[in-house]
Amino acid sequence: MPTRTTTPSPLLLALREGTRDCHKALEARLPFFSPGFDPAAYSCLLQAYYGFHAPLEARLASYQEPGRVKLPALSLDLQALNLSPADIDALPLCQALPSVHDEASALGVMYVLEGSTLGGQVLKKAMAERFGIGADNGAGFLDVYGERTASYWRSFLERLGQAPASAAAQAASVQAAVATFQLFEAWLGQRNVLI
Ligand code: HEM
Repeated sequence: MPTRTTTPSPLLLALREGTRDCHKALEARLPFFSPGFDPAAYSCLLQAYYGFHAPLEARLASYQEPGRVKLPALSLDLQALNLSPADIDALPLCQALPSVHDEASALGVMYVLEGSTLGGQVLKKAMAERFGIGADNGAGFLDVYGERTASYWRSFLERLGQAPASAAAQAASVQAAVATFQLFEAWLGQRNVLI
């Protein structure tokens, strides 16, 4: 996927560098490719995703364009996997979330959530091949932007490129991104959905 057509901004480079180890650590513990993973475990994993994304998207509301909201896709996936709207409303929600208090921290959190749509392209293929679960029957979240995945990523990178370039703002974004990875991993671990 040609996702990098322009010179990466200093902020993008800092976010990449700062979260590389976090991404590796989380990827290694996610069960998508594990031999024992099955549709029931996939449903539990998505329920845990919901518990993190629901309150976090609410925190991002004033910073994020409405078109980037991913919760409706997660909710439809869970309904396709036989949860009722009442079941979904009753899912446990993560309390330990990254703090979002300014543009810099919001950009760090959004970098993680937007970047996950890139890995989602790999995971969507795996879920279709392994379980026949596709965008219409439980994997809509993994392909939430569909054909627009690359263009959405590019426009997010443009936003990163226009962000205030002070060292303090950059450090705050990286810190928020690292916290997002770490708190997501901690939450998924607590919900017993990691390897
Ligand atoms: C097993 C699970 C995962 C796999 C296999 C995976 C794989 C990938 C791949 C292949 C890319 C690069 C895509 C490209 O450059 O076109 C990527 C990027 C990224 N992924 Fe993941 N990913 C996984 C889970 C996650 C999760 C759960 C998150 C965050 C919650 C995440 C956050 C990111 C970010 C932020 C980037 C962008 C890196 C950059 O280009 O700056 N990934 N992932």
